[in-house]
Amino acid sequence: MIEVKNLTKKYGDHYAVDHLSFQVEDGQIYGFLGPNGAGKSTTMNMMTGYLAPTAGMIKVNGFDIMEEPEAAKRTIGYLPELPPVYPDMTVREYLAFCAELKRVPKKERLSAVKEKMMELGIEDMANRLIRNLSKGYKQRVGFAQALLGDPQTLILDEPTVGLDPKQILEIRELIRNLGKKHTVILSSHILSEVSEVCDRVLIINHGRFVACDSPDRLEMGGKGGTTLLVAAEGKRADVLAALRTVVQVTDGDLTEDQGVVSASIDVPDRQDIRGRVSAALFAANCPVVEMRTKKANLEDVFLELTEGEEQADQDDQEQTDSEAEQESPASDKEEPKLHGEEEQKEDQA
Ligand SMILES: Nc1ncnc2c1ncn2[C@@H]1O[C@H](COP(=O)(O)OP(=O)(O)OP(=O)(O)O)[C@@H](O)[C@H]1O
Ligand SMILES: [Mg+2]
Repeated sequence: MIEVKNLTKKYGDHYAVDHLSFQVEDGQIYGFLGPNGAGKSTTMNMMTGYLAPTAGMIKVNGFDIMEEPEAAKRTIGYLPELPPVYPDMTVREYLAFCAELKRVPKKERLSAVKEKMMELGIEDMANRLIRNLSKGYKQRVGFAQALLGDPQTLILDEPTVGLDPKQILEIRELIRNLGKKHTVILSSHILSEVSEVCDRVLIINHGRFVACDSPDRLEMGGKGGTTLLVAAEGKRADVLAALRTVVQVTDGDLTEDQGVVSASIDVPDRQDIRGRVSAALFAANCPVVEMRTKKANLEDVFLELTEGEEQADQDDQEQTDSEAEQESPASDKEEPKLHGEEEQKEDQA
C-alpha cells in the first residue's frame, strides 16, 4: 500500500504538487490522470524517491520514503517518463547492470535478466545496442528494468506514450498481466486506456486531488449522468404531456422536425425509464421512432472535473518559467536517474 499525505512540491512560489493526499490499495491497477502540468510526474518522482518533497509524507509498502529510502525503493519498480536506458550498452549488459543496482544476488542475476527479457519479448534483442532499438523496444527494456527485483509495486509514467497502435495494445495487455501480481500505478492522457485497464482512477489538477474512484463510479457520478434521447411521431404538446407522466422535462428539451418530436432527457440517478417512456408515448398515440441512452464517459467526467482551470494553468506556467530562469537555470532540469542508482536526490529548487 502507498500512503501519500499532504504531499507538496514548490518551485519558487509555484506549487507543482499542492497538499496532495491519497492511498493506493494493494492488488489494483490505478490510473493517474490529469491535464499537462497537473503534477503527475512530479508526484511519481517523489513517490519513488527521485525528488525530495517540499513537505508531506509518503509511505511505500510500510516504509517512509524519506526515512528508509533503500527499503522503500526495493519494493518499487519505476518506469520514468523517459526510459532510463543507456544507449551504449546492449540490452543484456544494461539489464545485468540494473539487476546489480537492485541488489539481485549475483547467482540469480543472469536468470533474472533472462526471465524478464522473456516476459517482455526482448530475448532476440539481448545483444543489440540499446541505441539501435525502436522506441517500442526501448520502452520494453525500460519495463524489464522496472520489473527486476520483483517489486511489489510498479509505477509507470505514461508507459504507452509515443508507441504505435499495435505496441500500445501489447503494452496494455502486458500491464493487465502485471496487474495480477503487482500493484500498478500508471499515468496517462489516454482516457480510454485508463478505463480499459485500470480498476481505479485518481485524478489530479494543479497538483491538487480531484477524485479517486472506479471508472464506472466516476462515470456515474459525473454531472452528465445518463441522457435518454427519444424521438416520437405526434404533436409536440402530446409528446411533452406523455413524457411528463414519467420524468421531469420542459419544452426546451424538445426539438421538432417534420412531425417527429425529439427529446433529450436527463435521467435522474441512472434509472432505466425506457419501458415507461415507451408505454406513455404509445398510450398518447405518439409512436416511438427512436430511443437511445447516452452514457457520460470518463472523458466527459474528466473535463467536467478539471474544466475552467486552463487559463489559471497557463498563468501559473508563465510565472514559474520566469521564476525558474531568475533562480537557478541549471537546477531545474532534473535528469531522471536510474532507480536505486543514487540516494534521495538533493533538490535545489
Ligand atoms: N524542475 C522544475 N522546475 C520548475 N517547475 C517544474 C519543474 N518540474 C516540473 N515543474 C512544473 O510543475 C508542474 C507539474 O509538472 P509535471 O511534469 O509533474 O506535470 P505532469 O502532470 O507530469 O504533466 P505532463 O502530462 O505534461 O507530463 C508544471 O507546472 C511544471 O511546469
Ligand atoms: Mg508527466
